[in-house]
Amino acid sequence: MSFAMDRIFTGSGGTGGVRSAESENDADDRQSVFSGISDAPSIYSFNSSRDGLALLRLIQGRTFNAQNDLYYMPADMPEFARQEKEHFAHLVGVGRLYVEHEKVQRILSPTDGEQKRILDLGTGVGTWAIGMAQEFPHAEVIGLDLAPNTASANLLPPNCRFEFDDFNLGLPHFHNSCDIIHGRIIAIGMKDFKWFITEVAKCLKPGGMFLMVEGDHNLWNSKKELQELAYGTGGPGQSWYARAMFEAALTMQKRGSDIDARMKLYELISSSQYFEDAGEHIHVFPIGPWEQGATPEDHQRKQILGILERQSMIDLVQSLGPLFISEGYPKELVDQFIKGTEKELNELTVHMYIKWFYFFGTRNSIPIEDEKAGGNDA
Ligand SMILES: C[S@@+](CC[C@H](N)C(=O)[O-])C[C@H]1O[C@@H](n2cnc3c(N)ncnc32)[C@H](O)[C@@H]1O
Repeated sequence: MSFAMDRIFTGSGGTGGVRSAESENDADDRQSVFSGISDAPSIYSFNSSRDGLALLRLIQGRTFNAQNDLYYMPADMPEFARQEKEHFAHLVGVGRLYVEHEKVQRILSPTDGEQKRILDLGTGVGTWAIGMAQEFPHAEVIGLDLAPNTASANLLPPNCRFEFDDFNLGLPHFHNSCDIIHGRIIAIGMKDFKWFITEVAKCLKPGGMFLMVEGDHNLWNSKKELQELAYGTGGPGQSWYARAMFEAALTMQKRGSDIDARMKLYELISSSQYFEDAGEHIHVFPIGPWEQGATPEDHQRKQILGILERQSMIDLVQSLGPLFISEGYPKELVDQFIKGTEKELNELTVHMYIKWFYFFGTRNSIPIEDEKAGGNDA
């Protein structure tokens, strides 16, 4: 499939599956449509499961996107269910879909003669995009991802749609058109954060806002010290989950993800000449329902948060299985990561926190000169 020419699809259906030879030849069930925000003529609607088949492939029993080897995580129902749990953990942890709420709401308030637009990069199952579309029914919300969303297509509010694209290739059809751009947990699929921040700036209208959420793969213990990793047969206070996260980060970096930069996003955004008012909020979530709250309400919130994070993390290590195997980790060690994580988190033998960074910045009005077309050749 010619990804460079056909890499923009608008989603309205499809049941997904795996790539097959037949599906690659099925061009007849695509319909050409014109997007309201682009001059590009070759934008296709995604309206059958056969289109979905061409965008996916099967690896070690899990379904993956077929466009990009950098993001080596599944795009299937178990992974979509995991993303939903993580989404609700953030909703409980932060209390709403976004930080800096007064500013976000001001930017998105209806304005005569102006279409408000929200772009969610690496939308995954799309729960954030759908939530924003429900909260701001006058705004157009676009969730963009490498993989077709086969879980939420039937749940889309009328002002929300999905597109299939690789943000590393540049997003010229969104230039100067967005009020809010959001990306949550997308560093794994990122080639170059510095370049990406400038591309995001190109897509924002002056005064528009960039919101980004990334987690630290270094976990903390209950004393808020660095969590000890498990090696060999493991030991008291050591964690297989923390070890799996450490190994996953090393592996992803080796494959070319710019994941190290994700913890320095505040510096990157604030040093960009195209952003002002950059900042970060840090939220620390318990993994598992082990932390006591100060009040009954706070306790209940921490329990729910811990349960959601525990479920998401147990599923995450399973989703990482194909990556570890493809990078040469012995199957017994990968099984140990999965079973060790399940046991320590279900039995609450290790009490850990994960630290989430919520970065933000506002686009100023400095014009950006267009370099070569096509952006960052991935
Ligand atoms: C860990 S999931 C997070 C999903 C969603 N942002 C959320 O928080 O629920 C990362 C998503 O980013 C997408 N992704 C990764 N790299 C991408 C790229 N280069 N272009 C578009 N999407 C990408 C993946 O396909 C996946 O759906």
